[in-house]
Amino acid sequence: MQWVLGEISKGTLFQYGPEQGILSFRNNLAQFLTKNYGDKVESEELIVTTGATSGLALTASILVDRKATVFVENPTYFIALNILRGDLGLNVVPIDLASDGIDCDKLEAAVAKYRDEAMERESRRFSCMLYTIPTFHNPTGICYSEAVGRRVISIAEKYNMLVICDDVYNLLKYEHSVPRFSRLKALCGKENKLVISNGTFSKILSPGIRLGWLEVPHSLVPRYTNCGFLLSGGAINNYTSGIIAQLLQDDDIQNNLNFLRSLYGERMQLVHDYLANNLPAGWTVSHAKGGYFLWVATNQNVKKFCEVLQEKDVNVLNGSRATPHAEITDYASADYSHCFRISIAYYSKENLLRACELVCDAAKKM
Ligand SMILES: Cc1ncc(COP(=O)(O)O)c(C=O)c1O
Repeated sequence: MQWVLGEISKGTLFQYGPEQGILSFRNNLAQFLTKNYGDKVESEELIVTTGATSGLALTASILVDRKATVFVENPTYFIALNILRGDLGLNVVPIDLASDGIDCDKLEAAVAKYRDEAMERESRRFSCMLYTIPTFHNPTGICYSEAVGRRVISIAEKYNMLVICDDVYNLLKYEHSVPRFSRLKALCGKENKLVISNGTFSKILSPGIRLGWLEVPHSLVPRYTNCGFLLSGGAINNYTSGIIAQLLQDDDIQNNLNFLRSLYGERMQLVHDYLANNLPAGWTVSHAKGGYFLWVATNQNVKKFCEVLQEKDVNVLNGSRATPHAEITDYASADYSHCFRISIAYYSKENLLRACELVCDAAKKM
C-alpha cells in the first residue's frame, strides 16, 4: 500500500490524469495481462476506461462515422445495442453465430454490401465496425475457433473494418485448454491496425469500481489521446486506477482472479451436470469452460416458461432478448425464442441448485 498512499498524500490521484492513464497503472496492468493471457501486452497500447461499456461507447463515438454500419453477432450482449443503435444511432446488422464463431461467409457478404469508401474518405472514420465477444460469449458461452478468428481478421483487413472485441470474460477460464487464443488481437501480429480488445475489472473484481481498459493498435492511440472527451476530462477514472495499480502490484487482483476461477468453475460444472442429467429429452445445455453463462436450447418457444420461472424468483434471459431483430434477415436466421441463458456469477451453489430444480420441474410440465 506504500506507493498508493504516497500518491494520495501528494494529491496526484486527485488531479486530472494523463489522457491514456497513469503509467504505473498501465505498466502493472500490462504485466498482469501478459502473465494471464500468456502473450505480450504493451503498456503503450493500453488506455484506461470506466469499463467495457465506456470503452465501446468511446471507440464508436470517436472512430466510427455517424452513418456507419455495425455488425453484431446474433445473438449478442443485448445492452450493447442500446449503445450502438440507441445512443449513437448507428445502423446495426446482425450476423448468425455458430458454435465456433460468427458465420464468416455471411459477415463478408454483409461487409461488402455496407462498406462505404467515400464515407471513409470524407470523414476519416470507419464506415464499418464489427462488435464481437469472441471468448466465453454472452449469452451463448462459446469461444471462436482459431480458423474463424483468423478469417475475421482477414475480412477486416480486406475491407478496412474496425473490430472491437468485448473481452470481458477472457480471464475467467476454468480449464487450461481454453480459450484457444487469449484474445483476437493476439492473432493479429505487430502490424495490426484494426482489432481492439475491450477489457474490464467488472468481472474479475467489482463492477462498482467502474474501471477497465482498451488495448488498441499503436497507430490508433493518438486518436484517443487527442479526442475532446479525454482532452477535457483526462484519464477517465484516475483515482481508482491508482488504487488498482497498487492492488495489481501486491498480487491482490491475481489472488482474487484465482479465487473466482475456482469458485465459478465449480458452479459452472455443478449447474451443467444437473441440467444435463435432468432436462427433458430434446433440451440441451452448453458446457462453457469459462465466463458466466450456460445456454439452454429447447424444442419450443420459452417466453411463457421464462415468465413462470420469474414468478418463482428464478431469473433467466429469454434468448429472443439477445437477438438484435426479431425478424429473419439476410444474414441472421434465428430469433432464439426457443433458448434461454443462465448465469452462475451471483448466487451460491445451493441457490443455483435449487433454481436448477425449479427449471427442470417447470420444463417437465411444458
Ligand atoms: C459482453 C459484455 N460487455 C460489457 C459488459 C459491461 O461491462 P462493464 O461493467 O465493464 O461496463 C458486460 C456485462 O455484463 C458484458 O457481458
